[in-house]
Amino acid sequence: MSVLVEVRRLTTPQDLFHAAAEEVLRAASNAVEQNGRFTIALSGGSTPRSLYTLIAANASASLPWDKMFFFWGDERHVPPDDPESNYRMAQESLLSKVPVPPANVFRVPAENPDAAAAAEAYEQTLRKFFAVKPGEFPRFDLILLGMGPDGHTASLFPETAALQEKSRLVVANWVEKFKASRITFTLPVLNSARCVAFLVSGTDKATALHEVLEGKAPPEKYPSKLVQPSEGKLIWFVDRAAASELSAA
Ligand code: 6PG
Repeated sequence: MSVLVEVRRLTTPQDLFHAAAEEVLRAASNAVEQNGRFTIALSGGSTPRSLYTLIAANASASLPWDKMFFFWGDERHVPPDDPESNYRMAQESLLSKVPVPPANVFRVPAENPDAAAAAEAYEQTLRKFFAVKPGEFPRFDLILLGMGPDGHTASLFPETAALQEKSRLVVANWVEKFKASRITFTLPVLNSARCVAFLVSGTDKATALHEVLEGKAPPEKYPSKLVQPSEGKLIWFVDRAAASELSAA
């Protein structure tokens, strides 16, 4: 099955955040109309933070918060109050500012000193919430992702073990350059989503973006290339700086 890919080139980072916020609103209202709920996985990073801040400031009244269910596509191996925590970032920039019921927020229990156990616990949370049977994967309405300058996404870093995972939903992934574990959704979860949206801003991402969208390098070197939701939509929100090494539109 071919993947529906849309590259949305915006001019400034602000344009990118506005376009992505509109997509979140659209996806939420479609999902609630069709299924009575909206499931979204958030990402860490500075680009998503600006999106969350914008949604909290402008769209708080237009979203069906009681029908929205929040998860995280990846987490750093730190407690929820740590400055590095992706949960803390989303909590501070968005979730604490809107009327979302606390029971709709499912964070990674990354305070567990055993990263593999934290990943396993989060996998069970997903299995239960989505009622997935063995061999199946949850189908998120929307997964938001950032991309690092090395082409990583979620915590799927180049040439790391998690890239090979075919059956687990969430794994701990050792990242040698940080000498730390991260907890991350696996590719089968990303690729089962109804929609995956990448937010990519800044010149430091230009080379990786070119490699991912147009280059010939092996995908293990640029893991974002492996995100191919086979029965979903893939949208790249990119600003002019990030798109500066892409061929002309
Ligand atoms: C994280 C992320 C990671 C991030 C990218 C892009 O926890 O760090 O989920 O995948 O999205 O590194 O980050 P920026 O938007 O800050 O460049």
